[in-house]
Amino acid sequence: MVLRFVVILCCIKLISSFVSYQPEQVHLSYGGNPYEIVVMWSTTNQTNESVVEYGIGGLIKQATGLSTLFVSGDNETRSQYIHRVTLLQLTPRSKYVYHCGSDQGWSDLFWFMTSSDESTWTPQLAIFGDLGNENARSLPHLQEEVQRGMYDAILHVGDFAYDMDSENGLIGDEFMKQIQPISAYVPYMTCPGNHEEAYNFSNYRARFNMPGNSEGLWYSFNMGPVHFISVSTEVYYFLEYGLKLVTKQYAWLEQDLQEATSPENRSVRPWIVMYGHRPMYCSNTGDDDCTHYGTYTRVGLPFLHWFGMEKLLYDYGVDLVIWAHEHSYERLWPLYDYRVHNGSYEEPYRDPGAPVHIISGSAGCKEDTSPFRGDLPYWSAFRSTDYGYMRMRIFNKTHLYMEQISVDKEGEVIDHIWLIKNSHGSYA
Ligand SMILES: *[C@@H]1O[C@H](CO)[C@@H](O)[C@H](O)[C@H]1NC(C)=O
Ligand SMILES: *[C@@H]1O[C@H](CO)[C@@H](O)[C@H](O)[C@H]1NC(C)=O
Ligand SMILES: *[C@@H]1O[C@H](CO)[C@@H](O)[C@H](O)[C@H]1NC(C)=O
Ligand SMILES: *[C@@H]1O[C@H](CO)[C@@H](O)[C@H](O)[C@H]1NC(C)=O
Ligand SMILES: *[C@@H]1O[C@H](CO)[C@@H](O)[C@H](O)[C@H]1NC(C)=O
Ligand SMILES: *[C@@H]1O[C@H](CO)[C@@H](O)[C@H](O)[C@H]1NC(C)=O
Ligand SMILES: *[C@@H]1O[C@H](CO)[C@@H](O)[C@H](O)[C@H]1NC(C)=O
Ligand SMILES: [Fe+2]
Repeated sequence: MVLRFVVILCCIKLISSFVSYQPEQVHLSYGGNPYEIVVMWSTTNQTNESVVEYGIGGLIKQATGLSTLFVSGDNETRSQYIHRVTLLQLTPRSKYVYHCGSDQGWSDLFWFMTSSDESTWTPQLAIFGDLGNENARSLPHLQEEVQRGMYDAILHVGDFAYDMDSENGLIGDEFMKQIQPISAYVPYMTCPGNHEEAYNFSNYRARFNMPGNSEGLWYSFNMGPVHFISVSTEVYYFLEYGLKLVTKQYAWLEQDLQEATSPENRSVRPWIVMYGHRPMYCSNTGDDDCTHYGTYTRVGLPFLHWFGMEKLLYDYGVDLVIWAHEHSYERLWPLYDYRVHNGSYEEPYRDPGAPVHIISGSAGCKEDTSPFRGDLPYWSAFRSTDYGYMRMRIFNKTHLYMEQISVDKEGEVIDHIWLIKNSHGSYA
């Protein structure tokens, strides 16, 4: 009798897991402007529709979108449907509730806050790289803080899940479920890292939807007084996927910087913050490119020295550059071509003469943290191998604040700086 019951239960389990229209892996990102939000989720089987019901105070509106079939690149060809719906013309600084799915199954109810259109808005972001499915040390802190409403957006600076394609994409699914308590509430903005490389970055390109038309490999977006630029450092390291990706990104970056630094744009959004996965500089041990002098992303492709990005950062006056990949935290003095350009000796970060580089890649993954070499180079200001993540708050057009949180030390702030710019523009 008991055995028969167990057998029946097992059969029900098998059948019900075979067909599933239940939304999972819900996550948000910014659309083409700050008042557009893209909602994404996955279902095992194809649903008749992809719908988001949403509104301020209740589910009074409805938007529909599309789903695409995603097949893991390996021989097992596991498949899922990935849905994306764009919510247009949202009201600034409002709390929206939403759920997603279709009449065949709905997600939990979630909420998000839209960007403000007021110049007094002081957006705050959490920023980190290298967060895995295993040993995701920062995850509980981020889940707690996001749901308390501390952040307006997240920047995940490459290397997800370790790896999203592992076990035929199951690790990617697990990871997307782990971050849902974050990513269903705030835009989760990304860039590709080396761990996304499998099958030409197919998991990254399919699972995230970033602004622009480069499948999320490079893009920019605006948030209050900041113009954020996301680049793929990986185009320089996996040339087998096409040299044209290096040239296309470089041309796009230059054009984007030109537009962002036009007098009318820069007077409204003076801060330009770029992020990408592999650093131009680092003082870690090992043989990563950042431990070498002529990093590809900095000085250009090997031998040719074409398409190096550091000069662009300098010429267009990029204020801040954020990297990951090294599983550690490192803050540099204002730096260009291995020369420190402090604002002054007393206040290096007040009106500095070069971009400020910061590496924050110790969010936690199964590969442990990255040690530093013994000496502190003259261009490095502070470093730590504690697990953790960074917070950034943009106070106004002149003041930007950043701090690094150690999760080893229960959330203690181990480093902080004010970047102060009375004017923004080319350092040249
Ligand atoms: C649902 O998806 C599973 C897994 O991809 C597949 O084997 C099954 O045939 C699908 N069922 C329907 C009704 O589409
Ligand atoms: C897929 O490839 C892996 C490694 O080559 C192998 O171990 C596995 O058995 C293959 N699976 C199928 C379904 O062919
Ligand atoms: C989905 O579409 C199929 C085929 O058009 C239809 O038979 C079914 O009733 C629809 N399901 C729902 C829940 O609308
Ligand atoms: C890899 O993907 C990118 C983006 O879709 C594409 O432009 C490129 O041609 C692909 N490379 C190869 C070798 O398939
Ligand atoms: C200002 O920025 C917008 C995008 O945010 C761009 O479309 C526009 O061309 C820029 N203006 C100039 C003069 O470059
Ligand atoms: C930059 O400022 C820091 C802090 O005062 C100082 O330690 C460092 O030596 C300065 N570097 C240069 C090149 O002035
Ligand atoms: C910008 O913010 C900083 C920090 O809160 C403050 O000290 C400064 O006075 C502000 N500047 C302006 C122009 O509001
Ligand atoms: Fe990496």
